[in-house]
Amino acid sequence: MLNPRAAIRTLPSYHPPLAGREGLRLDFNENTAGCSPRVLERLRQLGPEQLARYPERAPVESTVADFLGVTAADLLLTNGVDEAIHLMCETYLEPGDQALIVVPTYSMYRIYMMAAGAEVISIAAAKNLQFPTAELLNQITSRTRLIAIANPNNPTGTVASSEDLLRIARTAGDAAVLVDEAYFEFYGQTVLPRLRECPNLFVARTFSKAYGLAGLRIGVLVGDLEQMRALRRVSSPYNVNAVALACLPDALADQDYIRQYVAEVREGRSRLECALAAAGIQFWPSQANFVLARVGPTAAFVANLRRRGILVRDRSSDHGCQGCVRLTLGPREHTDRLLAALQETFNELGTAQGAPRP
Ligand SMILES: Cc1ncc(COP(=O)(O)O)c(C=O)c1O
Repeated sequence: MLNPRAAIRTLPSYHPPLAGREGLRLDFNENTAGCSPRVLERLRQLGPEQLARYPERAPVESTVADFLGVTAADLLLTNGVDEAIHLMCETYLEPGDQALIVVPTYSMYRIYMMAAGAEVISIAAAKNLQFPTAELLNQITSRTRLIAIANPNNPTGTVASSEDLLRIARTAGDAAVLVDEAYFEFYGQTVLPRLRECPNLFVARTFSKAYGLAGLRIGVLVGDLEQMRALRRVSSPYNVNAVALACLPDALADQDYIRQYVAEVREGRSRLECALAAAGIQFWPSQANFVLARVGPTAAFVANLRRRGILVRDRSSDHGCQGCVRLTLGPREHTDRLLAALQETFNELGTAQGAPRP
């Protein structure tokens, strides 16, 4: 009888709630306004020739390398950051190795680590869901082979300092340390210029969030030249599709569009945090394009907003997030709609169950 590997038989499945997403999408941390018009223009110009050919990654890797200030050999374009995480697990984890994550965090780290047969060690966030540097350092052993850290973290929006990330990478010298900067644009700080200090440190970025290209599936992984050689061997030569490769240079060239979008998200983030504070709702000050808030019974809250045409994400089953929802921010008019709907929801359901701010 045919059986999947033992690690796969016990693998939890991850079903993001994608069905029926009608309305204002504040549930997946996507760009809610869409990509640069330059990308749409490029899409209109694509013809059968581009679709008939196998995609060529290398020229676009040079463009991205110039943009990031690294050399093309230091990076690999991937099918979203998800593929970067998967490749890291395939490249560095043997069955029985230890892999470290901080919880709560992005779900796919655990899944790909488990699929590789690793023992996943979950380190609980520190007080107030802050990054648990000391505890993470404590948990590094001679069996640790991979550490995945989202910075800013999803769903909390909290961050680790570059110094702490470097300390972790230096301490775990036999492990790959992946710093997932999917929300970099909304934070503005990066460990990328420090990669040369630690050959076991990697940075991943996505074009799914600020750039509005989640549907195209494109991200980038940057690391030490020798390590990237190994990762390239694992990757499919055609992992990124031709449409994504054709569009990415246009998306990168329109930095005005990104700056404007990010500025509106940041302004919206402050407005949302003020509104939550005024309503006495506990929340975690965020460096990303979303805010985690403890609103009380989440099902009624999410359903109430959905009736008003706004989708938000229930995070109450994440570690330490009982009663919490995650609210994504977009351009100004979307924040206006969110704040108006929140006010009505608070009036209807009351805010008494939201604990006061930490
Ligand atoms: C921390 C983090 N990393 C990676 C991803 C997925 O990125 P991509 O769309 O590039 O696969 C997400 C998506 O929510 C995320 O929150």
